[in-house]
Amino acid sequence: MANYTITVNGQSKTVNVDPDTPLLWVLRDELNLVGTKYGCGIAHCGVCTVHLNGEAARSCSIPISLVKDQPITTIEGLSDTINHPLQAAWREHDVPQCGYCQSGQIMSAAALLKSIPNPSDEDIDNAMYGNLCRCATYLRIKKAIKTASKNI
Ligand code: FES
Ligand code: FES
Repeated sequence: MANYTITVNGQSKTVNVDPDTPLLWVLRDELNLVGTKYGCGIAHCGVCTVHLNGEAARSCSIPISLVKDQPITTIEGLSDTINHPLQAAWREHDVPQCGYCQSGQIMSAAALLKSIPNPSDEDIDNAMYGNLCRCATYLRIKKAIKTASKNI
């Protein structure tokens, strides 16, 4: 076990965990940020997506010892008012079904819009390819990303 100080949603947090503890479990178990979900645990499903240094990253597969001073944003930190343009568009298009994959979907979409504010269909497909949805909300996700891109 060792102490690690990380910056999550703009706040400095210190946790005492094993060096190979995945960031996902630090967020969920140590910091109670449970909006980030666990699915496959091997970087294949996208439900654990957060931003690490502004890029979409699979938190299940990043050991805490590799985070260092890279800032982390989780779904809880995307907007203080739950009104990020993506969150508003998600509501407008009634995107979620069971909801389990949705925080990961939104975090991937947010990283996309940061790098490409007006994405094409192909840009969206490429960016969202690794985010799986058992409820097949893909078409609504794409519509919501396009709506959000007009308001970002
Ligand atoms: S739980 Fe991380 S990608 Fe599936
Ligand atoms: S909304 Fe159910 S898994 Fe995506």
